Amino acid sequence: MRIDVFTLFPEWFAWMDGVRHLQNARRQGDLETRFFSYRDHTVLSGGQVDDAPFGGGPGMVLRVDVVARAFEQVYGCDAERVRAERSVVVLTPRGRRFTDAVARELAAGPPLTLLCGRYEGFDERIHTLLASDAVSIGPYVLAGGEIPAMAVIDACARRIPGALGNAASLDAESFGTELGGRTEHPHYTRPADFRGHGVPDVLLSGDHGAVARWREAHLGTAPGAELGPRGGAC
Ligand SMILES: C[S@@+](CC[C@H](N)C(=O)[O-])C[C@H]1O[C@@H](n2cnc3c(N)ncnc32)[C@H](O)[C@@H]1O
Repeated sequence: MRIDVFTLFPEWFAWMDGVRHLQNARRQGDLETRFFSYRDHTVLSGGQVDDAPFGGGPGMVLRVDVVARAFEQVYGCDAERVRAERSVVVLTPRGRRFTDAVARELAAGPPLTLLCGRYEGFDERIHTLLASDAVSIGPYVLAGGEIPAMAVIDACARRIPGALGNAASLDAESFGTELGGRTEHPHYTRPADFRGHGVPDVLLSGDHGAVARWREAHLGTAPGAELGPRGGAC
């Protein structure tokens, strides 16, 4: 999996290189990430990459000519041809919702190019001429596309064989087809008794059939659904 990110803050992604499952995926030779600054590719003075919106209004809009030049310098072809070879995904609240199904789709598809916005976002011609997709990580507005890009990288890269210490973690996970799109059942571990709060007897019974039935019956339940009333204030 090859993932390129275009951002005003490539240094923010440095910590991701240290994340264990990304390191594992990189070591297997199946993950390559690169981070590019729009500013390194602008010809405008002072490293300018955005401009005031036509028609007025607050904020600054990322310029299409700056993104096009960045693509041409990085990929060595006409900017409008990049999306023929790669999934060029704009991160924007206006995009389609990033779900487990979208993560699987992106992970299985062509190399990814993720575009992070700032301020007011993107000139619309970035969508129409340069991008092939637009993704939102949820119905809220963040200050920039860097955290959304990290969410996409994390969700896609953990699907690379060898990325996770235990590949079985990918089986029967929340939202997957194996669970019919439902979330996973609750988990319990030691101690079996915590301040008088026990765990369901069936999980200690050693009866694998009964455990499987209990887990199946508890798919899609909200966290803490079986808890009693909350305690008082501290
Ligand atoms: C302040 S936001 C721009 C919001 C935009 N003016 C609007 O009202 O939709 C700046 C950038 O953060 C990123 N961003 C913010 N919220 C996001 C979300 N929910 N999903 C994906 N990207 C988001 C996008 O890259 C966006 O261009």
